[in-house]
Amino acid sequence: MYKDIDFDRIDLTQAPPAEETARQYYYIGKIRNHIRELSEELSRPLTASVKTFGCQMNARDSEKLTGILEAAGYQIIESEEADVVIYNTCTVRDNANQRVYGRLGVLNGFKKKNPHMLIALCGCMMQEPSVIEKIKKSYSFVDLIFGTHNIFKFAELLYTRLESGDMVVDIWKDTDQIVEDLPVERKYSFKSGINIMFGCNNFCSYCIVPYVRGRERSREPEEILNEIRALAEDGVVEIMLLGQNVNSYGKNLEHPISFAQLLREVEKIPGIRRIRFMTSHPKDLSEELIQVMKESTKICRHLHLPLQSGSTRILKAMNRRYTKEQYLELALRIRKEIPDIAITTDIIVGFPGETPEDVDETIDVVRQVEFDNAFTFIYSKRTGTPAAAMENQVPEEIVKEGFDRLLSVVQETARKRAEVWGGQRAEVLVEEVNEHDASLMTGRMSNNMLVHFPGDASLIGKLVTVDLEECRGFYYMGHKI
Ligand code: 5AD
Ligand code: SF4
Repeated sequence: MYKDIDFDRIDLTQAPPAEETARQYYYIGKIRNHIRELSEELSRPLTASVKTFGCQMNARDSEKLTGILEAAGYQIIESEEADVVIYNTCTVRDNANQRVYGRLGVLNGFKKKNPHMLIALCGCMMQEPSVIEKIKKSYSFVDLIFGTHNIFKFAELLYTRLESGDMVVDIWKDTDQIVEDLPVERKYSFKSGINIMFGCNNFCSYCIVPYVRGRERSREPEEILNEIRALAEDGVVEIMLLGQNVNSYGKNLEHPISFAQLLREVEKIPGIRRIRFMTSHPKDLSEELIQVMKESTKICRHLHLPLQSGSTRILKAMNRRYTKEQYLELALRIRKEIPDIAITTDIIVGFPGETPEDVDETIDVVRQVEFDNAFTFIYSKRTGTPAAAMENQVPEEIVKEGFDRLLSVVQETARKRAEVWGGQRAEVLVEEVNEHDASLMTGRMSNNMLVHFPGDASLIGKLVTVDLEECRGFYYMGHKI
């Protein structure tokens, strides 16, 4: 385990080891030496800041980057006026890219004031060749660029940059490697994400993820279970199993295992009280999974089941491989089998060729399923995806009109679902002090709904029972009993 390693006792006089984990430990040791000297020279600690854009996968990757930086001797801070700043980027929609470009200008201002500052960029956006070109040309003050496939090499790449002084760019097209046991620094002490698989093989026609995250690879179940056991021993009570399509977990392993079987094993781990997972593709959701969820006392009453569109014609063009009727049948069956479950979803408006009648079909699904929450997105054209080359792109005003119409129904059904809980009692995992009122604590119910109630910080990480008194749209105010 990385926690047992004394990075200052690694023999740095030897050549770097070939085996990846040991190799990265070696570079962590090298950076520690470098930082020690620089820190003495400057008479201050060296600081680092990691900023995450995008999804839960990126959030978990950022914990790994933070873990490596901390092991390397950096003091982790929130502020981006730091000696190392990493942006872990997202490219699923264009506005995520634009935000990164916008903020890079601000970072350049900080860098002018601090000659030791290094700016590193990684994540999905860096897997796009056009982005790398643009950064080299217009943002040449960036020091280090790497991608999603070689994130495990971060220590080595950072050391290379520290030594060379030149911009380091290392982007891999794909990988079949999964490097285990590198340092991780969790954002929360009591909950953690765990990657169970990487990449995606689905090629939904609008989506850039398969191109930037590569082919689907599952981790070995024993690696996952060992990681969760270690987390449980470290005080983690809630885990979130992460993958682009968890329902196809394990199919390509040497000894295939289903996602439902994996969940059964996770359930047995003492100390783990709550199990979540993300994301499920409707086409692969098995009856076995529904039964495991139904029988489980630990799997949370929440299923994120992206719909994307309620129009069978659009679903076909999206290459989603289910129809409106199949989605409805599945979602309503799950509601019937597990009545207290919250079903949330993702919906895209404005896919090429989408008409107002197609949006009506989507709204019809929202009304029938009554999603507890839905993330609604305006279609964003991603270079290289099949949908980007489709001719019938929808004009902005029509997209906007459909989006607004959908959003009001989504809000109406979400509110209706939330109100059902009024007057009931729920188990809540306390997460943090309320952002706006320090006398309140904020926690989550098993169905992912937020609850605020009077309490103090000693409750953080504990499961408490709360009376749900007042529904305020999408969350509750309550009292701990
Ligand atoms: N445009 C808009 N939304 C998209 N998503 C993925 N690709 C695009 C795109 N090109 C949405 C999908 C997915 C979520 C993570 O992001 O709804 O489920
Ligand atoms: Fe993208 Fe579809 Fe894969 Fe999800 S399942 S990451 S939407 S290609």
